[in-house]
Amino acid sequence: MAKERKNSNSKGRYDRPQGSWRTLLSVRSGMTLVWLVLFGFGIYAPCTLYRVFPGTGLLAARHIADVGYARYLGKQTASNTVAYLGIPYAAPPLGALRFRKPVPVDTTRVSSALVDVTQYPDFCVQGYAPWVAPDDRGGAGSEDCLKVNVYTPVCARRGDALPVLVYIHGGGFSNGNPRNWPFDQWVNDCPKFIAVHVYYRLTAFGFLAAPTSALDLNVGLHDQRAALRWARSHISAFGDDPDRVTIMGQSAGGASVWLQMLADHATGEQLFHGVIGQTVSRSGTRRPERKEAAFRTLAAKADCTRDSLDESVECLRAASISVMVRAADDMIKEHTTNDGGGKEPLRKSLKSRFPHMTESELDTYERLYPERDPNRAGNALGEVGLRCSTYLLGMSLDMVYAYRWYQPTPPLRLPADVWHSSDNWMMFEGTSTGSNGTTVFHQLSNEQRDFFHEMLAYFTSFVRSGNPNTYKLERSPGWPLYTDSWNRQVLQHQLNEVPEEDASGEDTTTAVWQEEVTTEEQERCAALFDMVESCEN
Ligand SMILES: *[C@@H]1O[C@H](CO)[C@@H](O)[C@H](O)[C@H]1NC(C)=O
Repeated sequence: MAKERKNSNSKGRYDRPQGSWRTLLSVRSGMTLVWLVLFGFGIYAPCTLYRVFPGTGLLAARHIADVGYARYLGKQTASNTVAYLGIPYAAPPLGALRFRKPVPVDTTRVSSALVDVTQYPDFCVQGYAPWVAPDDRGGAGSEDCLKVNVYTPVCARRGDALPVLVYIHGGGFSNGNPRNWPFDQWVNDCPKFIAVHVYYRLTAFGFLAAPTSALDLNVGLHDQRAALRWARSHISAFGDDPDRVTIMGQSAGGASVWLQMLADHATGEQLFHGVIGQTVSRSGTRRPERKEAAFRTLAAKADCTRDSLDESVECLRAASISVMVRAADDMIKEHTTNDGGGKEPLRKSLKSRFPHMTESELDTYERLYPERDPNRAGNALGEVGLRCSTYLLGMSLDMVYAYRWYQPTPPLRLPADVWHSSDNWMMFEGTSTGSNGTTVFHQLSNEQRDFFHEMLAYFTSFVRSGNPNTYKLERSPGWPLYTDSWNRQVLQHQLNEVPEEDASGEDTTTAVWQEEVTTEEQERCAALFDMVESCEN
């Protein structure tokens, strides 16, 4: 049930924001009180001891996590971080398991052998990714990829009950390699939590759909759930607390976070307790009947046209990876054609994206985004597809902290250059995604690292306590609840500003300020909220 809408007064001195908006969400749960109690005990004391001896051979040699059915050898990757890379959470989804929900890892076969997980594993097969390069067809990677990377503080051990951050990467459900969004520096900066990064099946391997029971739908999302269940059962071996899990994701990862909330709600499983959704992307979710044409096109390209859908699925199940990736090209292209949004007339773009929208809803839409707006289609599709997610979740949940990322990816400097995914660069070591699971990292300048440090303090504070304010940096402003005030935090690193110093010489510049969400924006998002059913089909 949506809460009553609240409107605040627009101050009228507000420029139309050009950046993409993000949401830092907290799902209210009964855990809040328990969290407060746990924090009273000072359970992190051992960290301080270990941090005196960073990187010694002795420590590096003994990073072993025993999950009961297996023992894993990790490695120290930063002064305060140990990484365990590529721990399987499900059986390899090969042969008959292709297009099937993941089968949990077999924990009855106990092995005492030490498994070396010090190198990044094979990433999942990459699909078509026109946002990387127009003719990027992907193709690299392995089908045997249902693994997680776990990053722990060097001192973490069973019983520490550290909070957990599970990250689900973006990439349009088509590409992405967790290695390109590393958590070594996050844990190094704040060795008070454990990060888990999920590999899940992408492109046709994760999201092939057709109206037949010969395949399971959305197996990539089921992979994410399997990883969350694995974390709940086994994460305490790494020193985590399975009852304090926050999930986080950007773009398709943000959409995943949203869909996992729905799944948790629908199944009654509580696999996580807090949520960070960054540019939650909302495309219409098609019923399998509506995917049949795309399925048939894909099957034909793979030479798998058969008398029945079931036989086609069986044929695709046996197809080689390269045949599958080439065939999936068209299927994925169909989804991304309108992503740019700006080129087609608004009505046409909306109609192809949300076929169930009624004529009168389309009229409303055209009124909301008047023709005089030079970036009309971009704003209209941007708000329905990404930005109003914040508002929609703000209307539906009780505890939401919102933010707008207003920092372009360096070397770009103009506010107009704040594109989708701009936040990844600063948050993950200057990462710049290439094709086939590759990336280039750029060394952050001291100023940029300062900014990272400030953002991280809010984020990890949220992971640790369900509130971005608890452990924020002293120089950072308080972050009010979006749901109380319609205020959101704006995160922008001001490159041109001379850092202010306090008496002790500490840098006191903050990259954060607040803005009030305008009445106009609230009204546009509210109107979209009323059309939400025709958007979801
Ligand atoms: C990606 O990998 C596939 C499979 O190895 C290869 O065929 C393709 O040329 C690669 N694409 C790029 C752009 O490197």
